[in-house]
Amino acid sequence: MLTRRSLHSLQLLLLLCVSAGAMKFNLFNRNHSPKEGDVRLSGSTDGSEGRVEVYHEGRWGTVCDDNWDMAEAQVVCRQLNFPGAKSVIIGRQYQQAPGPIWLDDINCNGTEKHLVKCEFKSWGETDCSHKEDVGVLCQTGSTNETINDSTHSLDHSISLSDDLGQIFDSGNGCDFLILVRSPTGNIQENGTTEMAETKICAHKTILSQFPLFNASGGISNITVDVSSSCQLLFSSFIRYIYTRKIDVTLSSAICVHWMASTFGVKQLMEDVGRLFSKVIPDDSTFHNQVSIYNYAVETGDLILKETCVQFLAWNYQNLTRSPAWNSLPVELLGALLPRSDLVAADEYFVLQSVERWITEQKGSISLEIQAELLSHIRFPMIPAEKLYELESNSSLYSSHKNMYREKMLTAFQFNILLFSKLATNPKFSKDSADYQPRIYTAEPWSAAVDPSKKRPSYDHQINTHRRYGYQYDSYYVYPTPSPYAPSVSFSTPVHSSLIFKNNMIKWQANIFKSQNECSRNGLRCESFPVAWLAPNHNPNNMLYRNRVMMMCKGTVCQVQGFKGNLAPIATNGTSCLCSDEQYTYRVVVRPEYV
Ligand SMILES: *[C@@H]1O[C@H](CO)[C@@H](O)[C@H](O)[C@H]1NC(C)=O
Ligand SMILES: *[C@@H]1O[C@H](CO)[C@@H](O)[C@H](O)[C@H]1NC(C)=O
Ligand SMILES: *[C@@H]1O[C@H](CO)[C@@H](O)[C@H](O)[C@H]1NC(C)=O
Ligand SMILES: *[C@@H]1O[C@H](CO)[C@@H](O)[C@H](O)[C@H]1NC(C)=O
Ligand SMILES: *[C@@H]1O[C@H](CO)[C@@H](O)[C@H](O)[C@H]1NC(C)=O
Ligand SMILES: *[C@@H]1O[C@H](CO)[C@@H](O)[C@H](O)[C@H]1NC(C)=O
Ligand SMILES: *[C@@H]1O[C@H](CO)[C@@H](O)[C@H](O)[C@H]1NC(C)=O
Ligand SMILES: *[C@@H]1O[C@H](CO)[C@@H](O)[C@H](O)[C@H]1NC(C)=O
Ligand SMILES: *[C@@H]1O[C@H](CO)[C@@H](O)[C@H](O)[C@H]1NC(C)=O
Repeated sequence: MLTRRSLHSLQLLLLLCVSAGAMKFNLFNRNHSPKEGDVRLSGSTDGSEGRVEVYHEGRWGTVCDDNWDMAEAQVVCRQLNFPGAKSVIIGRQYQQAPGPIWLDDINCNGTEKHLVKCEFKSWGETDCSHKEDVGVLCQTGSTNETINDSTHSLDHSISLSDDLGQIFDSGNGCDFLILVRSPTGNIQENGTTEMAETKICAHKTILSQFPLFNASGGISNITVDVSSSCQLLFSSFIRYIYTRKIDVTLSSAICVHWMASTFGVKQLMEDVGRLFSKVIPDDSTFHNQVSIYNYAVETGDLILKETCVQFLAWNYQNLTRSPAWNSLPVELLGALLPRSDLVAADEYFVLQSVERWITEQKGSISLEIQAELLSHIRFPMIPAEKLYELESNSSLYSSHKNMYREKMLTAFQFNILLFSKLATNPKFSKDSADYQPRIYTAEPWSAAVDPSKKRPSYDHQINTHRRYGYQYDSYYVYPTPSPYAPSVSFSTPVHSSLIFKNNMIKWQANIFKSQNECSRNGLRCESFPVAWLAPNHNPNNMLYRNRVMMMCKGTVCQVQGFKGNLAPIATNGTSCLCSDEQYTYRVVVRPEYV
């Protein structure tokens, strides 16, 4: 189960992990230069715990445990924007700190905003050693939600895994030295960056499976520069090369992914990419998602890239309103527009969003590329009444007049001619994406399904009756044909073409969460929750590729198609942070000619 805590720590890690100068990429372009009196937690891969360090005179230093208790821990956690402290960790439990010991005999009353506002001897005055450095574990959520940075074991192990693991652990006969270096965050007196170093001794024969380690020929050592949080994980990564087993938490995902891609360990990279994609929904500014897309492109991780593009397609509407929209890479927009799983109010919305994006680039996008992007707009899908306004409202109409005119003509034909007539035109291609709907959420094509709104308390009533041994016929008690009224019913035209404007079809929808609920509707369902969407008749020559969307706090987490009238919703594949009750559902009707 994904939790607030793991997401939070992943965010911290994203910052830590990518701030290392040695890395070629910078995921988030955020520069945090520490200020006097800042605090940080070090020596742990989880951002919400670690050794307490304070920044003073350009150096990070630690705090001695004399007098340290929850009051001090609260101040540190709150200074780091956590809701509070969970526990105090005394003594050296995290990696040995390299820098000075800045604070000793510290005494807070617990309400201070900054640790250095508390009383302490004086900077650097101490009789402690680093063995007495304090750590804290901070609270991460404001509620009692389960806190669990779940561990995902990636296991491609071979039968000798355990033996190979022992060989690595013992270091027997190792002949290849890996020096892992990371910046401590301190600048030395001569102006160079202070580095923490770890040595790992491995076997050339094992590492030589992956050429990027350079473990061949006369080379007997390499130096690898990583961020401080990746440093702690490097040894597990090398151990994976031996055993093909590694435990990854969401908070370590980026570092493991980075190591795997740096050294060309493809299977690990892809597996972590899949896991890593769980963090995608976490940023309503969409900067993170776009960065992860760029990262996936840079590392050639096709699975991560697809996960990212799919997520952005599902959340297209919010993406277009986010701060990331105007600086969206043209390749990403180009990858989004051909997709039929793009979720938007209607096709006119898609057109406007693209026009707005192009206009925002202020001429840096060539007319050819503009035309290429616009060619993905499905003009026949634009609601007919909006087609009439297009010429006067479109900001790019004049610069792409011919294209717009041609496409609008096709669209009008689509709206006024029967499909059989259209098909006689040699220029008409039935399979063209132009005639396939995306996932349109505007009325009348879509409706919210609230499973809690179905007829209340049937279960309760029926159970009550059974308990007393009565055999009530539910028709008798409630004179409706089905004991489970649909949670929503709505009507759409049979098809989006104007010809069918007044030819309506009625839909009923519900979300079932147990076989009991399915049985009452005469259905056999295999997994839950399952969406049910049924028309009151089946029109000729129409195919409905309907969809159900599962949403959590405004984010689309899952989109599923129907088989028959049922669509099982996979909840294990989603990355959203909602409990079962918090998910909301929306069904979308998508008619196509056949
Ligand atoms: C706690 O310390 C802060 C800062 O020194 C001070 O402003 C505040 O009055 C103190 N509160 C109590 C209850 O002593
Ligand atoms: C967490 O649960 C405990 C006990 O159930 C309760 O006393 C406390 O108020 C809860 N905390 C929050 C933040 O909901
Ligand atoms: C945390 O995850 C572990 C492993 O999946 C599980 O055994 C444990 O019960 C979980 N703890 C909570 C509080 O959910
Ligand atoms: C800077 O100082 C450190 C520690 O004193 C030393 O190890 C390093 O070699 C020095 N670097 C340069 C470029 O002088
Ligand atoms: C690393 O390898 C180089 C040559 O490949 C050698 O000169 C150097 O001494 C080695 N360093 C260590 C620490 O083994
Ligand atoms: C491996 O060798 C190449 C070419 O000499 C070099 O560019 C690369 O940095 C080396 N990789 C490592 C991990 O040392
Ligand atoms: C077109 O522009 C007019 C005037 O600004 C506006 O009232 C109308 O709603 C726009 N039409 C569409 C489809 O956006
Ligand atoms: C997406 O937009 C809707 C409506 O504009 C809003 O309610 C929702 O919170 C947004 N979702 C996110 C994740 O920002
Ligand atoms: C979700 O569960 C189904 C069936 O249990 C399984 O086939 C599928 O691989 C799972 N998906 C993920 C992403 O774990």
